[in-house]
Amino acid sequence: VRGWTEVGALTEALRDRYVVVHGRAQTIRAVGKNMAFVVVREKGFTIQCVVTAQPDVVSRQMVKYVAALSRESIVDIEGIVSVPNVPIKGASQQVEVQVRKLYCVNKAMPTLPINIEDAARSEADIEKALQAGEQLVRVNQDTRLNYRVLDLRTPANQGIFRIQSEVGNVFRQFLLSEGFVEIHTPKLIAGSSEGGAAVFRLDYKGQPACLAQSPQLHKQMAICGDFGRVFEIGPVFRAEDSYTHRHLCEFTGLDIEMEIRHYFEVMDIVDRLFVTMFDTLNKNCSKELEAVGRQYQFEPLKYLRQTLRLTFEEGIQMLKDAGVEVDPFGDLNTESERKLGQLVLEKYGTEFYILHRYPLAVRPFYTMPCYDNPAYSNSFDVFIRGEEIISGAQRVHVPELLAERAQACGIDVQTISTYIDSFRYGAPPHGGFGVGLERVVMLFCGLNNIRKTSLFPRDPLRIAP
Ligand code: 4AD
Repeated sequence: VRGWTEVGALTEALRDRYVVVHGRAQTIRAVGKNMAFVVVREKGFTIQCVVTAQPDVVSRQMVKYVAALSRESIVDIEGIVSVPNVPIKGASQQVEVQVRKLYCVNKAMPTLPINIEDAARSEADIEKALQAGEQLVRVNQDTRLNYRVLDLRTPANQGIFRIQSEVGNVFRQFLLSEGFVEIHTPKLIAGSSEGGAAVFRLDYKGQPACLAQSPQLHKQMAICGDFGRVFEIGPVFRAEDSYTHRHLCEFTGLDIEMEIRHYFEVMDIVDRLFVTMFDTLNKNCSKELEAVGRQYQFEPLKYLRQTLRLTFEEGIQMLKDAGVEVDPFGDLNTESERKLGQLVLEKYGTEFYILHRYPLAVRPFYTMPCYDNPAYSNSFDVFIRGEEIISGAQRVHVPELLAERAQACGIDVQTISTYIDSFRYGAPPHGGFGVGLERVVMLFCGLNNIRKTSLFPRDPLRIAP
């Protein structure tokens, strides 16, 4: 039980009630010696608290004390809810608290590296203010990330990470209801799971090891261990040398793996899971989405009740028809993916779709070639607003073929021998996918940088705070 009334719950219904409010002093403004205003913020909501010197109720000394409070200090306030005749500017709640008592629970330093109100302004708002000659500091991304605990206090960031929490929650609840088992695979592993150079290598008591680039190998081994359908929410490490808006060195992977008869069953899960997720976010996070939108304007995501599926060949044809040159057996680069996203939106009216049957050559070694044409594979990527959020596939469950494919992809088979051996004891056909949590939130909210949706981002240049 809370010992106070939440700021977001302070409405006219509480008129004349004596309440206890707890939060941060966002702004403090003295008017002469007898009055001070404190805007208190809690969880992104703000309330104006009025301290007025009155004999036997509030002393002048008290007003002086309040006027000297530092911004962002933690305060407890007791007082009476009142409803002013004029609309309140600069606070979310349209009532005030007439302060009787105010305790500073813990004070913040007098000057802070970031002013939360400046950090919360939209680009349009900043432009307007600058044109009007207002003095303000544009808070750049590095400064925000350097002082992330302050930056996280803006309403948009409060929204972003509550939306992120809901994405994980829907993922877990949906999969549990579909008979999936939540697993936790090791993050310290002997060899790279995705191949390539993007691996953090380390010394494991004298043995070479690395941080898992995905739960790929062990989630498949869990299928060999008869769990049937598994999922994991966990950290994924990539020693990326990518200085882009969408690559991190550590992100949160949402992974599934399941026994199948056809890889379309995996795409069916993508379809139902994500339509449920988007519906739930729109329903449960409307306030949060609104808060994000106030700072970073975006259009709600357009998606269909049944997710569009195109084959890679169909995608290539659409690009060709639009005059874009692409290699029919190569991977799509970022630009072609964006372009295809636009073409799909124009033709089918959706910003969320699946592209499947990729050329085998551009997929990881564990991907199952198509039975009818091994130049292609039973694999897919999923896109939001023209950017990849998921890659998935049917896996090779035949050990000899798996070893052959690993070798062909330049992987040291020795480092994954226990993985390949797992398939020698009898392995069912299976498939799955991996989603990047930060990318889902970034693209659902139409944001332009993945660092905005990572609580404490890790990129090639940043490991602090
Ligand atoms: O495409 P990726 O590398 O696929 C895998 O890891 C496979 N094991 C998945 C599978 O089950 N077949 O990564 C999966 C997703 C991407 O679609 C993207 O959303 C995200 O993880 N991702 C990244 N997110 C942030 N920073 C990075 N460096 C990312 N690399 C991939």
